[in-house]
Amino acid sequence: MVQPITKAIFPVAGLGTRFLPATKANPKEMLPIVDKPLIQYAVEEAISSGITELIFVTSSSKRAIEDHFDTNFELEYRLAQQGKSDLLDLVQKIVPKGVDCIYVRQPQALGLGHAVLCARQVVGDEPCAVLLADDLIDCSTPCLKQMLNVYHETQASVIAVEKIAPEDSDKYGIIAVDKSFKGQGYIHSIVEKPKMQDAPSNFAVVGRYLLSGKIFEHLSRLTPGRGGEIQLTDAIASLLKEEKAMGLIFDGTRFDCGSKLGYMQATITLGLRHPELGNDFRSYLKETVESF
Ligand code: UTP
Repeated sequence: MVQPITKAIFPVAGLGTRFLPATKANPKEMLPIVDKPLIQYAVEEAISSGITELIFVTSSSKRAIEDHFDTNFELEYRLAQQGKSDLLDLVQKIVPKGVDCIYVRQPQALGLGHAVLCARQVVGDEPCAVLLADDLIDCSTPCLKQMLNVYHETQASVIAVEKIAPEDSDKYGIIAVDKSFKGQGYIHSIVEKPKMQDAPSNFAVVGRYLLSGKIFEHLSRLTPGRGGEIQLTDAIASLLKEEKAMGLIFDGTRFDCGSKLGYMQATITLGLRHPELGNDFRSYLKETVESF
């Protein structure tokens, strides 16, 4: 029987240096796209894919994330008093009933792999999801759900990938796959941020993973890799020597909201689609672009 995946890790303890100065005192994951913080998009994706335990790996400068998923008694009281039931509903439904939030600390930003390892005590040896909220993935079927479908078919770890321009290889983890790889297939190996000439393919890992519980053993054995950080990619490379993992080109669009350009692209795309603002925003954008 396939072991169900109910836990998701959200590593949110990074320093967000690409987005300074905005991220000096504010968590990158709390930057809003239109009216919702990035982390809430990732949490909604996880919940709509069937995840019921949300494990946030945070740091001392990320308290706003805990507050966002907690009750704000005064705000709720005032909204109720003012009869603003729609807004009250909106804030009360951020974490639906039956979903739990758990917080663990990463004492130092020692890398994504280290952040995931910090969640080991909570996850145990179960398979789990890992979602990086700065990758906002816009899909009609949630990206994580698409990955879970593959997990249920194959019982292997699943890693979301997308095709990139070869010159961008040194920004991503890159997988090696069969030449015939189109939408999904077994990963032969994986390497973190290779030079273009060393990249085994043009398929780059994006911020969604379904990982076997064995990943923690591999993470715990690692020494710092590229950039002096404990790299999740290195642990996956080690896991691949023992277990199979699938690469999946998800059906949807990824916005790299850890970069300023990706963030603006996400804001424009989701702004244009916003039910209340979309039409006015479209007219404004059109006029502005024409007058530049
Ligand atoms: P990134 O490398 O995109 O985030 O890590 P960063 O380090 O915050 O940003 P830059 O590169 O300096 O601009 C991907 C994810 O992993 C988390 C980040 O919060 C982000 O969601 N992360 C990264 C940690 O939780 N801990 C770390 O030590 C590193």
